[in-house]
Amino acid sequence: MNLILLGPPGAGKGTQAQRLERAHGLIQLSTGDMLRAAVAAGTEVGKRAKAVMEAGQLVSDDIVVGIIADRIAQDDCKNGFILDGFPRTVAQAEALDSMLAQRGLKLDRVIDMKVDDDILVERVSGRYTCAKCNAGYHDKFQQPKVAGVCDICGGTEFKRRADDNAETVRSRLGAFHAQTAPLLPYYQARGVLGTVDGMAPIDEVTRQIETDLGFGA
Ligand code: AP5
Ligand code: ZN
Repeated sequence: MNLILLGPPGAGKGTQAQRLERAHGLIQLSTGDMLRAAVAAGTEVGKRAKAVMEAGQLVSDDIVVGIIADRIAQDDCKNGFILDGFPRTVAQAEALDSMLAQRGLKLDRVIDMKVDDDILVERVSGRYTCAKCNAGYHDKFQQPKVAGVCDICGGTEFKRRADDNAETVRSRLGAFHAQTAPLLPYYQARGVLGTVDGMAPIDEVTRQIETDLGFGA
């Protein structure tokens, strides 16, 4: 199964993609994570993306389409993947359509994670992740079971993102409404769009997604 999680910054795309990966073996493909890795490694793509990401704007379509095309071609994607943070513009959606068609693959479902803008700033500014395995946490909504110890890998170091501040979140939200929201009618017209309540507790959102995908309640 190949699917897209669509939603504004802080909607819970990464949180739910990690859960689906662990429970159902689908591979999480996060363009945000790939771009942050490129920035950290100082690659040519990273150098081009860094300032754009720090300003909360979208990296150019050619860069992200290139990194996703390379990633989808890898063997581990054959059994299904979850696109987290891609596509984000109609041009990216069209590029995805043609790269899937070239590989004889299809898009099974697009899940729209609906969350009101006013709670997203709190979500994003409280977020942190495990430095070792990238598992996501939140100061208030999702703390490790043992304080300071990652539930998944036992790691004890955590990190926060440079773009997770109130000002940058507002420009990321602006980019979402202007450039990404038009994907909703695009996928609605193809009959693959499902909607979940992204404001529900994390376990309930997982349940709604699994129900939509037919994984059973
Ligand atoms: P990216 O990394 O994709 O960031 P984003 O879309 O802004 O999404 P986030 O990672 O902030 O949120 P999320 O929905 O994954 O939420 P999460 O699960 O962490 O992109 C970063 C930048 O890279 C972009 O601004 C752009 O510059 C560039 N970029 C990336 N892809 C691109 C593309 N395709 N084209 C162009 N540029 C691109 O949850 C947030 C927090 O809330 C967590 O702490 C979590 O624990 C908590 N939480 C989650 N669900 C719930 C819940 N139901 N209740 C309470 N708390 C919850
Ligand atoms: Zn970890």
